[in-house]
Parts: sequence; C-alpha cells; structure tokens
Amino acid sequence: MKFNFDKEIERRGSNSAKWDNFSEDILPMWVADMDFQSPPAVREALANSVDHGIFGYPCDTDEGQLAVSNWVRKHHRWQVSPEQIMLMPSVVIGFNLVAQAVTKPGEGILLQTPAYGPFLEVAANAGLEQHEAKLIQGEDGQYILDLEAFESAIKPNTKIFMLCNPHNPTGRVFTKEELESLAEICLKNGIYICSDEVHSDLVYPGNSHIPIATLSEEVSKITITFMAASKTFNLAGLKAATAIIPNEELRELVQNSTHGLVSWTNAFGYTALVAAYQKGESWLKELLLYLEANREYTYEFVKNRLAGIKMTKPQGTYLAWLDCREANIEGNPKEFFHQHAKVELNDGEWFGNGGKGFVRLNFGCPRAQLKEALERMEKALKK
Ligand SMILES: Cc1ncc(COP(=O)(O)O)c(C=O)c1O
Repeated sequence: MKFNFDKEIERRGSNSAKWDNFSEDILPMWVADMDFQSPPAVREALANSVDHGIFGYPCDTDEGQLAVSNWVRKHHRWQVSPEQIMLMPSVVIGFNLVAQAVTKPGEGILLQTPAYGPFLEVAANAGLEQHEAKLIQGEDGQYILDLEAFESAIKPNTKIFMLCNPHNPTGRVFTKEELESLAEICLKNGIYICSDEVHSDLVYPGNSHIPIATLSEEVSKITITFMAASKTFNLAGLKAATAIIPNEELRELVQNSTHGLVSWTNAFGYTALVAAYQKGESWLKELLLYLEANREYTYEFVKNRLAGIKMTKPQGTYLAWLDCREANIEGNPKEFFHQHAKVELNDGEWFGNGGKGFVRLNFGCPRAQLKEALERMEKALKK
C-alpha cells in the first residue's frame, strides 16, 4: 500500500461535526465522513492555493466540468459533455433546488424508505406531499424493491422520485434490472427522477454502479443525477458537488430556479474537486481495498460477537446498517450505545420508516478505531 489508511489522526479540535460535538469519552462512528486524510494530490493543490494567499473571485473556466466528465466516462461508462454538468455547493442543496424547480406546491414527491435523513425534509421544504414506498428485506437480509408498493405509492400528483443509489443507509447498489423497472414506472407516469449517486465511487467487487440516466436516452431526459468528490475523497467540508442534467430544458429550468440564492461552489472546493478527479484515482483504488477489508472485519465481528445484531454486507458505501431489533436492548439502540458503549452511531429513526430498531455505523476509519468501537459495543451488550 502506498497510502497509509491505518494512520490515526486527531480530529478533535478541528471543528469537526463528527468529533467536536461530543465529549472526549465518546468514539464517533456516525456522520458520513471518513477519518482519513484526503489524497496527497488534493492536499498539495489546496496548499498551493493557500500559499498563493489571495482568495478573490474564481473564474468560470470549464476545467471542473471537464474533470467531472472525464471521471464519469472512465468510472461510470457515461458520456456527458461539460455543459451538461452544473457545479453545486452540496448535494443536499442540489436536490432541494431540483425538487423546487420541477414541482409546484401541493404536488407529490416519492421516496423509498428507509431514506437518507435530508430526503425526508424535501417535501416540507418545497410544500409537497410526501409519498413513500418501503424497501423490503429479502430472505438474506439484503434490501430489495417492492415494485407493487412502489407503483401504488404513486398518486396522480407525483412529480418527482428521489432515488438514492448506492443506497444510504442500506448499502444496496441497485442492479440494471431494478433500475430499469423503476425508470419504466417513472416514464409511464411522467415522473422526473432525481438520482442521488453521491456514493457511486464507493462500490465493492461483485457490484457495479450504473447511473440510472445511462439506461436510455428517454431516461436520461427525465433524470437529474448528483455525484460528488465529497464522499469519494473525503471533502465534505469543502462544498463541491455536481449535478448532471443532459436535458437542456431541464437544466435551464434548474438554473433559473435559484432566484439568485445559490453560489455554485467556492474556490477551495473547486480546486479540490479538480485535483481529486484528475489525480486521485490511485488513492481511491487503495481506499476501496481498505474499506472492503473494514467491511469484512465489521461483518465478521457483528456476526460472531455482537449478540442479536444482524448486518448484511453493504454492496457500496462505508456504512453498516445494523439491525438491533433482536438484541434485547431496552429502548433506543443509538441511545444505548451512546450511554453504555460511549460509541456514537446514527439513529435508525433518522432514516424514517423502517429505521426503528436500527443504527448506522460508519466504518470509514482506521482499523484500530473500528476495532475499538466494536469492542466497546460488545462489552456494552454483555453487561
Ligand atoms: C445519500 C447522500 N446524499 C447526500 C449527502 C450529503 O451530500 P452533501 O454534503 O454534498 O450535501 C450524503 C452524506 O452523507 C449522502 O449520504
């Protein structure tokens, strides 16, 4: 390994949401950022900007869009031209903007639950009705689509479907067939697809990320796709995401819906995004090997040592979705592990329906930290 992902770096005192919101005895394994430094090429590019020392307005070249389009072509077999790519300060801002651009208050938005928490706020933000279709667990515990439920959740006023693929929190990477079924239903019902693919670079062997917009020309016309270097290269604080909108009319609609309120990205975010996509590939290859080993470690540990807790291996993401419903925990499992293990996890209930009794653990960290967290959880369960 050229890059050292075992290196433990003190994050307390660095204004980290993950670490600095808790007392020192708490080991944070929650929010989706990793405890690894970003690739050296990114740090070098940022250091050069800092050394230059003048932080004026950046200019509007298409270097960023070009870097994204090259990355997407190479990694996701998707040809998009730079003008089809909009830079955004964040995916969450982006999908709220898109929902507000393509709907009118009183119309409907369709989600699959459990869902990434901010998905559950989009309807209220845009004055929409929320329509929900549950993902269900197959016999092996892996989440699958319930297409009948999906279709029957659609109402005449449903205008947009928010897809999350790879799926947070379940870690599913949907297959071509699954995506085709969803897209077909959306096409049939005149529903736009807002596809959050922020975890698309973090997929494990045996699975392959397929941008839903690549299924056909027809599907690409109704789809807005979000991708970002933020999860892949651990840059969430720099605020640089991208929306890919091949349909020109739809792109203009989104662009014109900001009402002057969105500034697309900042100079550091832009610098980091370009460096990451241009020079981060070898780092990402090693990161994926490390994360895969962490995934295996977590899976074996949960299976053998966390009595009553169930986990299926995520096919993508660095997030483990732990089913604690049969672990004899009184009350909320997130609170239990906070109090008795001093480990901070995401509460399953934050992910809406289907999340009660679950916690989400982030294994994007050095192995020693992961081991410590799991051992603390084991001890708490044994007490
Ligand atoms: C599915 C999903 N979308 C969006 C985000 C956040 O993206 P951003 O920081 O660009 O708003 C996350 C972060 O965890 C996520 O998991």
